Amino acid sequence: MSATPNPPHRILIGEDDVHRRIEELGTQICADYDGRSLLCVGVLKGAFVFLADLVRAIDLPLEVDFMAVSSYGDSTRTSGVVRIVKDLDIDLAGRDVLLVEDIIDSGLTLRYLRRNLLARHPASLEVCALLAKVGRLVDDIKYVGFEIPDEFVIGYGLDLAEKFRNLADIRIYQGE
Ligand code: IMP
Ligand code: MG
Repeated sequence: MSATPNPPHRILIGEDDVHRRIEELGTQICADYDGRSLLCVGVLKGAFVFLADLVRAIDLPLEVDFMAVSSYGDSTRTSGVVRIVKDLDIDLAGRDVLLVEDIIDSGLTLRYLRRNLLARHPASLEVCALLAKVGRLVDDIKYVGFEIPDEFVIGYGLDLAEKFRNLADIRIYQGE
């Protein structure tokens, strides 16, 4: 059986723009954490591509850990339930923690994660999200790559029912 190629969903943010913005975020993070070391916590699975590029744009001593949460089923709508599927290996106590998220939609996942991680007594906790849908409260998110329209997006780690994570750019899902 041969695999069907990825369909041509409309490109929202091209590969070059993604990488340029990540370089900017990395520079900003380096300046903000100058002289310190970071613990970057990626939220699986969606943030794995972003985290991989982001850490290479940060010229500081850092460690990486992952958490997996589940808030969506195989659809484009939130289930409203956040569940830890895989917890961290590294102790957060006293650490400068940067939580790395793919996208803020309802903000439900972030709210849950923030509360959960703060209970582990990090020295500091900030959030870096590649994307945030417009109209969502991003006041408490220190680093946001792009604000995007309220559409379902795929690519660059983001999935629909586990597909499309391998697209190099970010696209608006336009149906089958
Ligand atoms: P929230 O809890 O509604 O903010 O959604 C959080 C999670 O839902 C994200 O980390 C994504 O994994 C997923 N998600 C939300 N919007 C999208 C989208 O447009 N495309 C793909 N995944 C999304
Ligand atoms: Mg997802």
